[in-house]
Amino acid sequence: MSLVLYRKYRPQKFSEIIGQTHVIQTLSGAIGSGKISHAYLFAGPRGTGKTTIARLLAKAINCETRESYEPCNKCPSCVEFTGGQALDLIEIDAASRTGVDDVRELLDVVRTSPSKTKYKVFIIDEVHMLSKSAFNALLKTLEEPPAHAIFVLATTEVHKVLPTILSRTQRFDFKKLSLAEIVERLKIIIKKEKIKAEKGALELIAINADGSMRDAESMLGQVITFAGSDKQITVEEVRQVLGIVDINLVMKFTDILAEKDVSGALTFINKLINSGHDLIQFTKSLTNYFRKLLFIKVDKNLSSIVGEELTKEQLNVILKQADSFSLENLSQIIQLFINAHSSIKYSSLPQIPLELAVMEAAKISS
Ligand SMILES: Nc1ncnc2c1ncn2[C@@H]1O[C@H](COP(=O)(O)OP(=O)(O)OP(=O)(O)O)[C@@H](O)[C@H]1O
Ligand SMILES: [Mg+2]
Ligand SMILES: [Zn+2]
Repeated sequence: MSLVLYRKYRPQKFSEIIGQTHVIQTLSGAIGSGKISHAYLFAGPRGTGKTTIARLLAKAINCETRESYEPCNKCPSCVEFTGGQALDLIEIDAASRTGVDDVRELLDVVRTSPSKTKYKVFIIDEVHMLSKSAFNALLKTLEEPPAHAIFVLATTEVHKVLPTILSRTQRFDFKKLSLAEIVERLKIIIKKEKIKAEKGALELIAINADGSMRDAESMLGQVITFAGSDKQITVEEVRQVLGIVDINLVMKFTDILAEKDVSGALTFINKLINSGHDLIQFTKSLTNYFRKLLFIKVDKNLSSIVGEELTKEQLNVILKQADSFSLENLSQIIQLFINAHSSIKYSSLPQIPLELAVMEAAKISS
């Protein structure tokens, strides 16, 4: 069983939120001054804090002993919100409940006063999935919401939200979390779990999370479970759990390409396949590695951005390898790998797209 860290560590105070500073600033100001809007739109990528902040907003504005903008987390109302039992927090998944009846039912609930607290908060997730009739019904409510009703509409696809909804809401754009932000949060979590991480291990998780804190936390949970009673997680364990290809293999292969050794490159790929490696993962790692080369080629100082999960020795190797390619070649090769990656799934023989890409890449390397 894997630890469900993202639930265990869902922030219970605004101060625990990482990133999204523009959102927190505006919201905390509004809560502090009591000038809450009746309809918000939280737009942005998955796992970046939309639901978390919506729930914090609901808790804070209903806190019985709130002093500034933070919920006290002690009063009966706060305890109910934290425990997920608050009757005045209604969360709806528009993706599964999109019919007119669902909306009508919802509107009944909107009209009735809150059971205990000051505000009833409605979080409508994936709001772009609502049916047209449901949208229209919602729109009417947004035009004249009862004083006790607060709506937080959340979406990962804001371009699908109708302009009529956009114009009636205060919009916040959530951003993908940066590598540093994700690592910062993971560090806090492992400290609480009394676990140590080898240098580079958390960075490797963060890179693979692609801006989503939830994904990062769930990967961390898997790695901790995998590490077992160790209380120490290593880069190698992260690599194994996430199926990340050993970077040393990628480096060796890059040398072969740099030498324009087409025959060697094809042999290498086929050895990989025979030893049971996942070609899609390998292609992904290769693309990622060439992205690093590209950055370093542009400017050696950029290695501070792309070299975070590399050891010192590896960094020296990649700096040297960057000399073997021209900028133009690097971008051509990356494009070849990207194309190969997307064709592998549909190819009758999965290795062919990569083999073709590699042949091309070895030819154009200089
Ligand atoms: N900005 C953040 N700061 C700290 N933790 C975060 C942040 N964003 C997400 N998390 C962590 O990730 C988990 C999931 O976040 P949340 O449910 O708020 O994402 P979301 O933006 O609503 O995603 P989705 O679009 O998939 O619904 C949280 O429980 C929390 O542990
Ligand atoms: Mg959500
Ligand atoms: Zn409280």
